[in-house]
Amino acid sequence: MGSQPEQTILVACQKDRLGQSIAQAISEEGGYKIVFVEPGSEVLKVIERQKVHAVVFMDELSKSQVCIELLEYRRKFDLSFPIIVISKEPSIERATFFMKRGAHDYLILSSKEASLKKIIDSLKEALLQSNGIYEESQQPYFEEIVGASPPMKKLYRLIDRVAQADVTILITGESGTGKELVAQAIHRRSKRRDKPFVPINCGAIPEELLESELFGHEKGAFSGAIRTKIGRFELANGGSIFLDEIGEMKSSLQVKLLRFLQERTFERVGGLKTIEVDVRVIAATNKDLWKAVQEGTFREDLFYRLNVVPIHVPPLRERKEDIPLLVEHFLSRHSPSLNEEGRKRISPEAIECFMEYSWPGNVRELENIVKRLIILSEGEEITVEDLPERLYKPKKDKLPSPILATLPEEGIDLKKFLENIEKSLIQQALDKTGGVKNQAAKLLGLNRTTLIEKMKKLGMDLSYGGKN
Ligand SMILES: Nc1ncnc2c1ncn2[C@@H]1O[C@H](COP(=O)(O)OP(=O)(O)OP(=O)(O)O)[C@@H](O)[C@H]1O
Ligand SMILES: [Mg+2]
Repeated sequence: MGSQPEQTILVACQKDRLGQSIAQAISEEGGYKIVFVEPGSEVLKVIERQKVHAVVFMDELSKSQVCIELLEYRRKFDLSFPIIVISKEPSIERATFFMKRGAHDYLILSSKEASLKKIIDSLKEALLQSNGIYEESQQPYFEEIVGASPPMKKLYRLIDRVAQADVTILITGESGTGKELVAQAIHRRSKRRDKPFVPINCGAIPEELLESELFGHEKGAFSGAIRTKIGRFELANGGSIFLDEIGEMKSSLQVKLLRFLQERTFERVGGLKTIEVDVRVIAATNKDLWKAVQEGTFREDLFYRLNVVPIHVPPLRERKEDIPLLVEHFLSRHSPSLNEEGRKRISPEAIECFMEYSWPGNVRELENIVKRLIILSEGEEITVEDLPERLYKPKKDKLPSPILATLPEEGIDLKKFLENIEKSLIQQALDKTGGVKNQAAKLLGLNRTTLIEKMKKLGMDLSYGGKN
């Protein structure tokens, strides 16, 4: 298939001789990666987890339900991968049934050779027809990245375009937005896909080690350099290097990286020989690098060299429609049970709480919460009660029991009485929050200004703790 990227074909057949020979025949055509599963519930799982370009499904009466679900799933998400149904028994009824629901073909297997050829011809034709529709489809994922919101679709299109161009890329975005997944997707969709993808976190390695980690060192370069070490740039030769947290790189290394970007050469630490490698640089940062340039901590020339194609990964709060998909994805990914039935579900109310939360830690935070919920929630379904407090606060309609004050004979000053109650509750809220008015107001279901007004009116000391 020349420079065409490999296409993934899901072969859902019994793992008997016939199934094996179908998978093998497709694989031998070249250019296809085969995912081979039994035609059971595993089929949908594969589809949910990875991108497939076509499905070959072996129909049998007992397995039809799975095929119907598959066609249904494809329709629901408006996906474009063709489904070729094959069967050992001729049945016009079933053929019509599946074709009507969007199967590309319904093939009856006769003699083995003729059947294999039919399958491959049909597959090729189907793939040709579906090629190019990818960008327009509603696919809820892209490589390993889950998300079908407009900003994510825009991101997928951008990745697709830049992957082929072999230019340096700077990925920006808050922590936990999936920058590393974007870098991997770029690599996988580039012509370097069969060569290494070498990630390195520039912020996690001590300054003095980072240079030799990246560029290697010669034996004896420094005390402790017992033998020659090959750096990540050399390991990545032919492929891509992913420089995560590039904003943390100190300035002497920035110079060395700049030179590499200009000349594609470097020397190992303590080495004299100039080494040339063919490596694509993909960098990422959750900092504002331009600000770092203005503050003088990041080299301007390096910034421009890296920022040839900037890619911004949007924070989760700007694409909340992806939250249900992500929750499902992580539920199925982290569930200990492999089959659908044993998997935890989540209640619609709980999903609603997920939708309302602002996710400062983005997808990583969501993934961690789902992981924890799978372990900690007791029932089959995760409910709002299982959620951590920042996602779900029980409503404040649990008021303290009404005060059973009896009206004295002579009557009372009701206004003053109520003011005293107000004062006491405000004071308690302030005590609880160490005098932070914003938080105290929250506890009372007020906004900050209303609280201050009330305090003024009640003649309370506004300088409590001196805090806002
Ligand atoms: N859209 C997504 N679909 C599926 N998984 C995702 C998505 N975005 C992030 N993740 C997962 O969330 C975690 C964090 O992602 P990643 O490490 O790529 O974030 P990051 O942007 O590099 O964050 P940091 O700046 O903190 O390094 C990973 O486990 C990743 O697999
Ligand atoms: Mg990262």
